[in-house]
Amino acid sequence: LNNGLALTPQMGWNSWNFFACNINETLIHETADALVSTGLAELGYNYVNIDDCWSYVKRGNKEQLLPDPKSFPSGIKAIADYVHGKDLKLGIYSDAGKFTCQVRPGSLYHENDDAALFASWGVDYLKYDNCYNLGIKPQKRYPPMRDALNSTGRQIFYSLCEWGEDDPALWAGKVGNSWRTTDDITDTWKSMTDIADKNNKWASYAGPGGWNDPDMLEVGNGGMTFAEYRSHFSIWAIMKAPLLIGCDVRNMSSETLEILSNKEVIQVNQDPLGVQGRRILGEGKYGCREVWAGPLSGNRLAVALWNRCSETANITLKLPAVGLDGSASYSVRDLWKHETLSENVVGTFGAQVDMHDTKMYIFSPAVSAVASI
Ligand code: GLA
Ligand code: GLA
Repeated sequence: LNNGLALTPQMGWNSWNFFACNINETLIHETADALVSTGLAELGYNYVNIDDCWSYVKRGNKEQLLPDPKSFPSGIKAIADYVHGKDLKLGIYSDAGKFTCQVRPGSLYHENDDAALFASWGVDYLKYDNCYNLGIKPQKRYPPMRDALNSTGRQIFYSLCEWGEDDPALWAGKVGNSWRTTDDITDTWKSMTDIADKNNKWASYAGPGGWNDPDMLEVGNGGMTFAEYRSHFSIWAIMKAPLLIGCDVRNMSSETLEILSNKEVIQVNQDPLGVQGRRILGEGKYGCREVWAGPLSGNRLAVALWNRCSETANITLKLPAVGLDGSASYSVRDLWKHETLSENVVGTFGAQVDMHDTKMYIFSPAVSAVASI
């Protein structure tokens, strides 16, 4: 969507994956504080997004949306002011249907009033869900909110949460700043890998202004190993997925913080070229030993070696397989070790990768032909 936003994938935090409906204004304040004190805000995680359950179960006497008076007694504008005071942005949630998924009022047929209200509160981001949609196609239900947000005059990031209905990559580029390509992620290796595969299919449709959204991060929520979370974060980064933290940032382990704050991996995600990396090898003799790659600005190439096998594996590739020149020499930097491994890798490259782990690299200078892989 050409609204000046999402030139790189959005980064921030969202309440749903960890807190579900257990949210209130104190949590949002403390989360904003923690994003700043942990250094995550400075690394680019700047949207603080309140998901479902912030609103009261009924509209007010002028049909206006009301914040839940128990959990958000000070109202949303006060939260927006607080968050803005920390140099962060506030996101909110509604639904392109009669109700939200947790049966709060939806915004279908209230688009203009609700968008105006969000803008008056100082909201910077809207996640727009797909429950209770009356069987109407998303292509019909999502554009009215785009137009309503646009007519507020406030720049508001528009995140479509249509769960991949009707292959949004094919139509949502002119509707939203990101669109979900799948149903909801859960905090398991199986869910994460399935979603990566589905999102990969739509790689060529992503770019500045509009991104494929394989759903929010589960890093730090406890259902996967450190290696699996490192893979989750690496692959989401190289796929140019939104990096929306889904854990309790007030109580992160040092391992969780180490993953989420890997600046070099974040830079791959936020690279201005904005080309979604994809799986290049992972079938036939490669099987569960996968190679993902995507071009970066400055003739560089990001490469991830993702071991999806149930044992340690050597993953080796011939450089032309990822679009590099088989006779040129490359400097290779390891983004998890934070060290340059070699200044002259020629022809082939490989590494041993632990079960379910990912190693991630930048090859430079890469030939410009990599843009066509
Ligand atoms: C849907 C969305 C989730 C979350 C919940 C909230 O399932 O896909 O991301 O917003 O609704 O109820
Ligand atoms: C790992 C292995 C090596 C070799 C390389 C591939 O480093 O330990 O034995 O197979 O990968 O070049």
